[in-house]
Amino acid sequence: MTQGADRSPGRRTVIGAAVLGTAALGVGGATAAPAEADERHGGHGSSYRDLPQPTVIAHRGASGYRPEHTIGSYQLALDMGAHVIEQDLVPTKDGHLVCRHENDITGTTDVAAHPEFASRRTTKSVDGVSLTGWFTEDFTLADLKTLRAKERIPGNRQENTLYDGRWAVPTFEEVLRWAEKEGRRRGRPVWLHVETKHPTYFRGLGLGLEEPLAKLLRRYGRDRQGSPVFLQSFEPTSIQRLAKLVSSPRVVLLSGASTRPWDFVQAGDPRTVADLVKPAGLKWIASFAQGIGPTLDLIIPKDASGKLGTPTTLVRDAHAQDLILHPYTMRNENTFLPADFRRGTDPNAYGDAFGAFKVYFETGIDGIFTDNADTGLLAASDFRG
Ligand code: G3P
Ligand code: CA
Repeated sequence: MTQGADRSPGRRTVIGAAVLGTAALGVGGATAAPAEADERHGGHGSSYRDLPQPTVIAHRGASGYRPEHTIGSYQLALDMGAHVIEQDLVPTKDGHLVCRHENDITGTTDVAAHPEFASRRTTKSVDGVSLTGWFTEDFTLADLKTLRAKERIPGNRQENTLYDGRWAVPTFEEVLRWAEKEGRRRGRPVWLHVETKHPTYFRGLGLGLEEPLAKLLRRYGRDRQGSPVFLQSFEPTSIQRLAKLVSSPRVVLLSGASTRPWDFVQAGDPRTVADLVKPAGLKWIASFAQGIGPTLDLIIPKDASGKLGTPTTLVRDAHAQDLILHPYTMRNENTFLPADFRRGTDPNAYGDAFGAFKVYFETGIDGIFTDNADTGLLAASDFRG
């Protein structure tokens, strides 16, 4: 399975430092701010090149154990020792950035139990998909704060429903303050991995995500190339826009090979993800980003029976462009694992997650998004030996 990718942090750190000083961060022409500003916010002038390898990224917090995108989920992930904590961002009607995977909050909040919001249930097309429910862009932050978060997949994670109603929907600013406080308490920065969700769709509503995100990153000292944050999006133009606003490290997310980013669809750009993972596509991405976040299937495709097949050359090809790889998403439950790592017949029971992590780590990836940061950390530790 091993691709022979160079996992030497030292080698890539040297190359990375050279590149970061020139082209890779040069799209916006932004310059690094004084180191003392970073220190004020607990940044310590850190570099993503110095994160533990493989880096364990807590996907939506510790979402295997708590309702996702809540302070409780982020706190548990941090307490487990996750290297980086992920946020997905969508806007409210009054332009505040809040942490939700979907702008449709039907499945992750108790909005349906609020009769005062019943009339706001509606059907709309988001990135070409028809959805019926309640949407963050139809709620002010004050409205949204009256709701409580709940488990998104209770059928798979019944135990997590114990925590339904315990936390509100956090704003990104609240998360930045939490990260700052936890960073001070721990004496080291709390790394975040922040995704802009549906950026073209929201810009069309007059709710552009990148400008308020950049403003918050500047306010909390996370706008520099050494800041403890990654910015990510499935839409390359969102990453390009961010590159003009801040110097924080950036990652282009890549979905299935046959898909097209929604901004490409809107702009009539015919390229698919299959084009972007070719050397020319990766070279283009490397002109404005420092990494890619591919679906795990782009690293190791599955065969017709759902078992892992032969790794692609993506790790080698991306590293050749000095791009790091943060693929998504590893989960412990059988239903989410490749068929060859499932154990028993209960889809919600845990399978051989350690075995699957090991095979993915052997490809030379730099990090991985996982709902189960504790499992990922043990697997990463085993892998480092
Ligand atoms: O952002 C990495 C991964 O989270 C992408 O998938 O749909 O879970 O945001 P999604
Ligand atoms: Ca995400």
